[in-house]
Amino acid sequence: MDNILVTGGAGFIGSHTVIELLNAGYNVIVLDNLVNSSRESLERVKKITGRSVKFYEDDLLDMEALQNIFEKENISSVIHFAGLKAVGESCEIPLAYFNNNITGTINLLMAMEKYNVKSFVFSSSATVYGKPESVPIREDFPLSVSNPYGRTKLMIEDMLRDIYKADTSWDIALLRYFNPIGAHESGEIGESPNGIPNNLLPYVAKVATGELEAVNVFGDDYDTPDGTGVRDYIHVADLAEGHIKALEKLSTHPGLVTYNLGTGKGYSVLEIIHNFEKACGKEIPYKITERRPGDIDMCYADPEKAKKELGWEARRDIDKMCEDAWRWQSKYPNGL
Ligand code: NAD
Ligand code: UD1
Repeated sequence: MDNILVTGGAGFIGSHTVIELLNAGYNVIVLDNLVNSSRESLERVKKITGRSVKFYEDDLLDMEALQNIFEKENISSVIHFAGLKAVGESCEIPLAYFNNNITGTINLLMAMEKYNVKSFVFSSSATVYGKPESVPIREDFPLSVSNPYGRTKLMIEDMLRDIYKADTSWDIALLRYFNPIGAHESGEIGESPNGIPNNLLPYVAKVATGELEAVNVFGDDYDTPDGTGVRDYIHVADLAEGHIKALEKLSTHPGLVTYNLGTGKGYSVLEIIHNFEKACGKEIPYKITERRPGDIDMCYADPEKAKKELGWEARRDIDKMCEDAWRWQSKYPNGL
């Protein structure tokens, strides 16, 4: 079976995708510098699947280390998750983001080209749609970004489009994730951000354990049914399955393809809080605060293209997302 190199495979989405890859019979090689993850996640992956992965604790900025992996392993495709992802931090240290995310990706693509590996799946984000003119968002909507993190995603997408234009022997899938949440249903792996979470779900989960006092609801005067922001939350296991479908698609040599990975349904901040209350059986205190700068009213996907062309659609509903997130959070309140 094919050998798949997964960069960032020890991280949140990467580790869930590694499980799906192993279950589908692929051999997995993970490269991760563990800047935002721990080796333990791959031990848990082994516990869940009964299969191990080959792990390289390396940095994408280390070209020699990268080439060594391609030299040793007979890689057929690369799934590229590795990157820094905190929007606020990217505004404070943009150069570090550009270096890590963009230089890191350039190194990876150069190593791939050198070793003639031309099948590439890239973790893009719904952030590349900026403030969409309407919802649901289709893949052909205009692209724009408003922060350095988003800029790294759009720049890498642009680079990949140029690379493909110049050499159509590449097969590239740009996957635009909406809001990944949830955890593996075993409760053994999940998301564990360092410090106070920036994103809604991990914050709500920490209020549920009592570690944080109350959820700050960033604004209730948005143009949405209850006034709070609406997003397309997707179970990380569904997202992971989307990557297997993307790899299968690339094996048919489609060229460059772009897909939204979302559910097509939007939930408000208050709906999320109430769904999480149901999952954890506790009341979640919240207070309405100022809007967070840069936030938009509504963001949800039109997932039809992925359904039609990949035969993929999200299967797990919001109850399942909250239940699985809570199982992980309550089992391992301090993460891995
Ligand atoms: P994560 O931080 O859990 O995983 C990223 C992994 O990459 C981490 O394990 C980290 O240690 C590793 N890494 C970072 N820089 C590296 C480098 N230079 N060399 C080697 N390893 C490096 O994040 P995640 O939520 O799993 O996200 C995975 C990818 O999906 C990222 O590219 C992210 O931007 C993208 N994405 C995430 C979301 C989200 O909400 N979680 C949404 C859209 C897109
Ligand atoms: C985040 C990222 C964005 C990425 C997207 C999808 C930030 C600033 N943006 O945005 O780049 O493309 O995920 O992965 O991280 N909220 C609260 N209280 C909180 C936290 C959030 O009310 O403590 C609200 C927000 O205003 C928003 C919703 O909850 O309406 C979701 O927020 P969040 O989880 O940060 O995701 P996005 O805003 O979609």
